[in-house]
Amino acid sequence: MNLGMVVYDHFRTFATSISYDLSLKLIRKFLSIKISLFVMSSSKKVTKIGVLTSGGDAPGMNAAIRAIVRTGIYYGMEMYGVMRGYSGMVENDIIKMDSRSVSNIIQRGGTILKTARCLEFLEPEGRKIAYDNLVKKGINGLVVIGGDGSFNGAQKFSNEFDIPCIGLPGTIDKDIAGTDFTIGFDTAVNTAVQAIDKIRDTMDAHDRLFIVEVMGRDAGYIALHSGIATGAENILIPERKTTLDQLISNLLEKEKRKKLVNLIVVTEGDEYGGANGVSKIIQDNLPNADIRICILGHIQRGGAPTCIDRYIASRMGYHAIECLMNGTHNVMVGIVNNKMQYTPLDSAVKAKQQISDEWMKIIKVLST
Ligand code: F6P
Repeated sequence: MNLGMVVYDHFRTFATSISYDLSLKLIRKFLSIKISLFVMSSSKKVTKIGVLTSGGDAPGMNAAIRAIVRTGIYYGMEMYGVMRGYSGMVENDIIKMDSRSVSNIIQRGGTILKTARCLEFLEPEGRKIAYDNLVKKGINGLVVIGGDGSFNGAQKFSNEFDIPCIGLPGTIDKDIAGTDFTIGFDTAVNTAVQAIDKIRDTMDAHDRLFIVEVMGRDAGYIALHSGIATGAENILIPERKTTLDQLISNLLEKEKRKKLVNLIVVTEGDEYGGANGVSKIIQDNLPNADIRICILGHIQRGGAPTCIDRYIASRMGYHAIECLMNGTHNVMVGIVNNKMQYTPLDSAVKAKQQISDEWMKIIKVLST
């Protein structure tokens, strides 16, 4: 891996956030400029690695920890687990790990290292204490498994101190660019699909309108994927504005056709206030509608990871160590089109994945 490739990934991520066509043109133009590539290598050899999970837990984090620890040990490194995310760095709660520390965890949800959102680490003083604690143990490389908030922290830390960081995208929200899937997303979506299938049975029996709220904060991927997979009539996501007139006229038109069963999947962070907000608006406009709501909540974050989540977590974990060894530092390890992709930490956070217009059209066509 060389700097040229890192820059290329960075550029590609930025370009995809503009538009697909434009990005292709930009990438072609970029490739046509023959810049000289040189290897970004760190002078210091990484010998002791800390691993932590931060932010909301996601199924598959344990599989990633296992892969990181075992790959590091395979290559002769000392491995350390940092407890409760950045809090463990600040409070010096860091434990030595060996191959057996990660036995029998690949199938478990949650994270054996526990997780937290650490306020002290947001401040320069907190990061300095964290750095000193790592130095005391001789840790000279860090792998952070988490979402955008966690990468922000890793980015700042690696800018300020001489400890390289690698990020692994671990979040059910899939709100990170530079990877097709994040660790935990597939499990969360499958959990949502199983729940919605059950709701559909009772919804159909009563000819009801059901509004199911899924997680994702301000990202609509869980709603999109689970909604399409369960045949939802409407999917409301923060990335696309749904005008209320549109939604109501759509429901009225269906009422006329005697299509009484209606499933609406809404992201918790949608502009109308999730399931409760949408329910109120619909009830005010369609007083006869028999509406029920279901907020799936944290069940989406737990449970055994799916095969896909275990597989991507294992693959990304292995490559995180390779990156630390070969000098590809301060990047997020992602998988795009089944190939490894390395994106600078700051771009992974800044450039969000884009929702394609094709998906919106599919939802419309298939719900008629
Ligand atoms: O980022 C993962 C996530 O589960 C979001 O989908 C959700 O909005 C948030 O975390 C919930 O956070 P908490 O568990 O702190 O309530």
